[in-house]
Amino acid sequence: MKKFTTALTAIFFLLSAPVAASESQMLLNEGRGLVKIFFTSLKGKLVTALKSGGAVKAIKVCSMEAGEVASEVADMSGWEVKRTSLKLRNPGNEPDAWERDVLYKFNARKSAGESPEKIEFSAIVVEDGVRVFRYMKAIPTAEKPCLVCHGEAIKAPVAKALDEIYPSDQARGYKAGDIRGAFSFRKTIN
Ligand code: HEC
Repeated sequence: MKKFTTALTAIFFLLSAPVAASESQMLLNEGRGLVKIFFTSLKGKLVTALKSGGAVKAIKVCSMEAGEVASEVADMSGWEVKRTSLKLRNPGNEPDAWERDVLYKFNARKSAGESPEKIEFSAIVVEDGVRVFRYMKAIPTAEKPCLVCHGEAIKAPVAKALDEIYPSDQARGYKAGDIRGAFSFRKTIN
């Protein structure tokens, strides 16, 4: 009997390693897909708003719709979905300790020569006894249109509109190619 159990245990361990690997790979693929959907939808709304009413109007659209798009992606997928940064515009996007650490590492990886477009990180962490898959993907600052509202030379009416909605705004002074922040997605897996 003992031999049989030992054999079973060995088989279990042989099988469970690849299963665990493919579980994280599947979740990683799912996270990557959701980032694409989230990013495309946000950027679409931003570009449309910029074209139709200029930057000041686009700020209002962004402030109302960024959260809505996140909720839509969360509802359709069962993942928690957010954007975060070390220099926040909306204090509601504050990183938790895990996210802050990953954001610092993203900046270090960029300084070490990695392309910001490709920087991502995922891990299975245990939070309050629950296993959670966490995935973050860096958001690079593109010259257009990001610098209009996050750059070093923000036009006066744009700065004024930002001051009104975000009195403690820190998300200015970026250059093209900087990491503006990250998408951060999490999913409970047991
Ligand atoms: C029309 C002005 C405008 C433009 C252009 C713009 N943003 Fe923003 N951005 C905002 C506003 C407003 C918020 C706050 C949204 C909110 O309340 O959640 C914001 C928030 C963010 C956040 C969330 C973190 C935080 O600081 O609160 C990230 C990340 C971000 N922007 C990245 C970008 C990137 C990348 C681009 C270029 C593709 C871009 N933004 C272009 C206005 C803009």
